[in-house]
This record gives sequence, structure tokens and C-alpha cells, in this order.
Amino acid sequence: MIIVRRMLQQVLRVSGRSAIPLIKWMERWAEGASAKQHAAKTLQDMPGPSVASFAWDLFAKRGLSRLHHLQLEGLQRYGPMWKASFGPILTVHVADPVLIEQVLRQEGQHPMRSDLSSWKDYRKLRGHHYGLLTSEGEEWQSVRSLLGKHMLRPKAVEAYDETLNGVVSDLIAKLRLSRSSEGLVADISSEFYRFGLEGISSVLFESRIGCLDEVIPEETERFIQSINTMFVTTLLTMFMPKWLHRLFPKPWNTFCQSWDYMFDFAKGHIDQRMTAEAEKVARGEEVEGRYLTYFLSRAGMPMKTVYSNVTELLLAGVDTISSTMSWSLYELSRHPEMQAMLRDEVLSVLQGRSIPEAADVARMPLLKATVKEVLRLYPVIPANARVTTERDIEVGGYLIPKNTLITLCHFATSRDPAVFPNPDEFQPHRWLKKDQTFHPYASIPFGVGKRSCIGRRIAELELYLALSRILLEFDVKPDPEGISVKPKTRTLLVPESVISLQFIER
Ligand code: HEM
Repeated sequence: MIIVRRMLQQVLRVSGRSAIPLIKWMERWAEGASAKQHAAKTLQDMPGPSVASFAWDLFAKRGLSRLHHLQLEGLQRYGPMWKASFGPILTVHVADPVLIEQVLRQEGQHPMRSDLSSWKDYRKLRGHHYGLLTSEGEEWQSVRSLLGKHMLRPKAVEAYDETLNGVVSDLIAKLRLSRSSEGLVADISSEFYRFGLEGISSVLFESRIGCLDEVIPEETERFIQSINTMFVTTLLTMFMPKWLHRLFPKPWNTFCQSWDYMFDFAKGHIDQRMTAEAEKVARGEEVEGRYLTYFLSRAGMPMKTVYSNVTELLLAGVDTISSTMSWSLYELSRHPEMQAMLRDEVLSVLQGRSIPEAADVARMPLLKATVKEVLRLYPVIPANARVTTERDIEVGGYLIPKNTLITLCHFATSRDPAVFPNPDEFQPHRWLKKDQTFHPYASIPFGVGKRSCIGRRIAELELYLALSRILLEFDVKPDPEGISVKPKTRTLLVPESVISLQFIER
């Protein structure tokens, strides 16, 4: 192929511009021929379960909540690449860092996560616009570029640390309030859901919505409940062929009602904020905002686009934060020596101050390594996906036709002993050892590239500020009942059962 390209370049030099169409054609022909030569293997050659056994795994063995585990079983049974089909969905699973890299490097100009999403069907049905999670192509690109300026630039994100620290202070107060006389906080995830929602709301609206107040507004509880229900029904509605929706309408109806509530909640808060601003303008006061809804509304996009983007950002900021906070403290409570080391790191950076700020975090490598390790063990998004819409691609010696759904098995690579020694152990120091490196795509909890998590910097800042402060205020100890908790898939990876921990005053 390289030789052919060199010959073509030679011809181009000799014959000038008129030869370009011919050369383009020859190049395409040569690329095609070379692909055929190497990628002798097609999807037909790829191993994988039969339709019946995949359906059995999914539905008869509570497979939807064990999807992360099915990745490991698939890796053991079929190797790093296998295919599985159910109903209208055929998906190629990729469970090796090298192969995941190959997919992501060929994802094209406007990467697409999945085109089968029931999330998109809901928006079409109700006439809503798409937000950043669900939009594609140019539409996605324009919102991504706008939000990227305010969410991905380190300086822009650092500016939120005061707002976020206010939310962390309320979280600490709420933890104190929720403790039993033995210091036990039952079901920490539910506290962290509220923290996540308050945190993302403060960044979106520059105002507080009371999730951490003593009496929680009912609408907040309903919003969090709607997210839960929506995630529970997402996989079901996605795997169910559409004609089954008419026979068993409940999952689809419940799914739509949850989204309805979430859209209404976001719209209510946006409208409230916009009205307050309009009143300010009417009074001749200056309006200047630093919050994300303000940037979106000032960019001249239709209000329907603002509503859908804010709904999706609110949604993205709740379970992700809650789950990571819960697992971090769960693991730290079981590793008191690590907890003490981390606290020492925070104390030595603060030098007598009591509230960590964004700039301090740069000098807390163990804190960063801890969050990295937690997200390796419990990747919030255990499986991501890509659909390459522009062309066929070659991965691991297989030719994958365009428009095939490719599942990236992040849970499997994170827990594969061939990739990480002692993969089930919590060892934050593995990320700090100079003599030990891992493949850069072995654990990528926020994704990589153009379509990676846009909330990453905000999420990391929120996690660092909250974890460091909790460790300054409390000794975190396990539930005296000694219950160990495993993860389960609920679209995202969440704790399978309630996590309760002791927060002992320091
Ligand atoms: C621990 C916290 C979080 C984790 C592990 C996480 C992880 C991810 C992952 C894996 C993706 C998909 C990336 C891809 O397809 O390559 C994603 C996308 C996204 N995340 Fe996060 N996320 C977190 C927190 C947040 C927060 C707090 C927000 C909101 C401020 C957010 C907003 C988004 C959005 C809007 C997208 C879609 C981006 C796009 O399609 O362009 N995430 N996230």
C-alpha cells in the first residue's frame, strides 16, 4: 500500500493536476484491495453466542443487571472480540485496550455513540430537540464547541470552585445531620445523589435548588427518582423490539413518563432563571452570568435546544458523581491506611487552611490516583459504544462494516488480570509507580477524543473538593455489620445494594 501511494505521488508530480481524479480512484482501489488482503476475516468469522443463548443470558439470568459481568465471561469464552445479536441489534464487543484504541482512532469527524437509543426515540415522539448526549453530526459539533469553551478549559472550570465549595459545605452539614448516634449514615448514595444534583445545578443556574436542605423539595426527590427509573428502563426499552412495546407497553410508558418529568424540571428552572434576568434588565440592572445556562441562552440557539441540553447535563451530573463518591468512600473505609495517607497529603498541602481549592488539587497526586483507581474498579459507564457511519473499518483483523454497533468493554479491560495485575484490588499507588505503566486505553472512564466526557473537569473538581474535605472532617469507617457491596449495571454501574458508612468526627 505504501509503495502504491509513493508511485501515485510520483505520477502526480509528473502529470500535474489533471491526473488527480484518476489518482484518487486508484488510491481508493488500492485501499480497498489492501483491506481485502489483510482483513480476510468478516463478521461471519467472528465468534459469539447464538441468538438464543444471548437472549437467555440477558433475560433469564438477570443479565441486564450483570451486563458488566457478561463482558468478562465473553472475554474468557471468545477472546477479545465477539459478536452478539438480539432482535434488531447486532453488536461487536471489543475487550482489549489495543482494539479499543483501534476503534476510537477510526471514529471519524463526528463520532456517534449509538444510533439505536430509545433516548432518541423519546425525543422524536415528544418533539424535543437533542442535547449533547443525543445529538449527532454538525448539530452536535456546534453545541460541543460552545460548551467546550466553558467546561473543558482548566481556567474556566477553576472559576467554579467557590460555588462548588459552597455545595460541599452543605454536604458536610447534611452528613452530620443524617448520622445516627453511632455516626452511621445509612445509604450514602442517596445523600450523594442530592449532592450531585445540587452541584451540577449550581454550575448550570448559578443558584441553589435546596437538595441538601433539611427538608428536601419534593420535586428534587421526584427528579432523582425519575433518573433512576429512566436508567432502569433504558436497557429494557433498547433491547425490546419496537413491536413488543405495543404488547408490553409498561416499560416504554414508564420510560417516557420519567423523561417527561426530567424535561419539565429542567424547563421550570431555566424559565425561572430567565424571568429573573428579564426583570433585572427591565429595572435597568446589568445582567452578567457565569453559569452554563446563560452561555447557552446567549448563543442564539432555539429555547428547545437549551432545554434539552440542560436536561441532559443535569442528568449526566447526578449518578456519575453519586456512584464515584460512594465507591471512593466505600473503598477508603476498608483501607484505613490509604485513608490516613490521603488525609496527610491534603493536610500537608493546605498548611493550616481548612478548605481545599482548585489550585491545591494539582499538588495532591494520591487524591487523583485514588479517584482514578476507583473509576478503574467501578467505571460509571461500564460499556461505551461507537457506530462508524462514514466507512467500514478494520479492527483486530476483522472488517467491520459501517453502521455496525461496536461495544467497548471497559469493565472487562479494567478487570482483566492480563492488563492490570491483581485487578480486583484497590491499589491507588499503581498509578504512581514510575516503573509500572499501563496501556493508555486500558482504563478510560471518561472516554477519549472528540466525543469524550465534556463534564470531566467539573466532575473531577467536584470529587476532589468533596473527598478531600470529608477526610478532613471525618474518619470514615465501614458499616459495623461488615456488609460487602458489589456493582450492578443499571445502564450505568451502580452499587448493587445500599452502602452505609460511619462518619466519625475528627
Ligand atoms: C465521574 C463522573 C463522570 C464520568 C465517569 C463520566 C463519563 C462519561 C463517559 C464515559 C462519557 C462518554 C464518552 C464517549 O462516548 O467517549 C460521557 C459523556 C458525557 N458526559 Fe460525563 N461523566 C462524568 C460526569 C459528568 C458530569 C458531571 C457531566 C456534566 C457536567 C457530564 C456530562 C457529559 C456529557 C454532556 C457527555 C456527552 C458528551 C458528548 O457526547 O459530546 N459527565 N461521560
